Amino acid sequence: MPGLLLDTLNGKRGDRVPLWLMRQAGRYLPEYRALREEKGGFLAMAYDSEAACEITLQPIERFGFDGAILFSDILIVPHAMGQHLEFLAGEGPKLSPPLVEAELDGLAPDRSRYDPIYETVRLCRQRLGADTTMLGFAGSPWTVATYMVAGEGSRDQHEARAMAYRDPLKLDAILDRIVAETIEYLSGQIESGAEAVQLFDSWAGSLAPDEFERLVIAPNARIVAALRAKHPDTPVIGFPKGAGEKLPAYARETGVQAVGVDETIDPAWTARELPAGMPVQGNFDPLLLLAGSDRLEARARVILEAFADRPHVFNLGHGIDRRTPIEHVERLIAVVRAFEG
Ligand code: CP3
Repeated sequence: MPGLLLDTLNGKRGDRVPLWLMRQAGRYLPEYRALREEKGGFLAMAYDSEAACEITLQPIERFGFDGAILFSDILIVPHAMGQHLEFLAGEGPKLSPPLVEAELDGLAPDRSRYDPIYETVRLCRQRLGADTTMLGFAGSPWTVATYMVAGEGSRDQHEARAMAYRDPLKLDAILDRIVAETIEYLSGQIESGAEAVQLFDSWAGSLAPDEFERLVIAPNARIVAALRAKHPDTPVIGFPKGAGEKLPAYARETGVQAVGVDETIDPAWTARELPAGMPVQGNFDPLLLLAGSDRLEARARVILEAFADRPHVFNLGHGIDRRTPIEHVERLIAVVRAFEG
């Protein structure tokens, strides 16, 4: 039995809507905070396969979600490509040297960094029940490039967006390398037991239309085509956060089997604009889940109704906030499980 989530990603509508939450393995869980206290930093845990598998399974044990997302980070790929990676308390991730000043050719890649991640996937798949889907992931080339270029997060992805105009050949070369790395990395996850994979494009929303075609759609399309050739039965979920009115073009042109939708997009519009039958994932606002007001149940039902005519995976529009009370998560799960339609 392949599981309700996997069936849904493959285009079937079951008698219940499957559910998982982005960042479901993370700091809102007391059991995660306890393990982090014991093990030290985030990155050390991501490379410790036993710890990472335990964290991946924590939300499954507590809530019984339909999918388990690998506990890891999108910045593992730049690390394996040879940038130094650190998470500084209160400052977020630092990658050095930043590619705005350094050249890609000067980096010393080390693909053995992927090995503990593959081991995490293998352990999780062994330990999960057959009806829970194991999800792998990677960042999309544009989003990963914004960190590689600037060496850190930024409010508006300024350095990479400027490079797209000032030095397009340099940015294209960086994206080409990330595309090749991501194909390798996601294939490795699939061969280790990931049953579906998600491409996270957290900063897809910061681009003008021509740049969206060139920097978001084209590189993702190359990854999807290569994965489809090697692993035709493994669905790819594309999540172009902030894509807005560019979402239908992304859905048609990248070749992804399912599309993730953030909370700023009207689900009724999405249901009309996406190709008929295409599975959709989303799009509950993580801040309404944090607030947990009396609008929580009503909003969840609006989303469930809007997507009732196509395969739907219930999820948030972005990662769960770390201050979210557990009771609010339980309330959301109850509405989704009670929905018949
Ligand atoms: O749903 C998922 O778990 C998908 C995997 C994923 C994670 N981070 C897991 C994670 C994805 C797609 C990301 C994206 C990411 N990571 C970005 C892009 C922007 C975004 O929010 O989508 C950035 C900048 C990072 C780097 C990063 N990772 C930061 C700044 C932090 C917090 C710092 C810290 O020390 O904890 C992380 C940690 C991280 N990444 C966690 C998880 C589950 C740990 C716990 C948590 O914050 O709840």
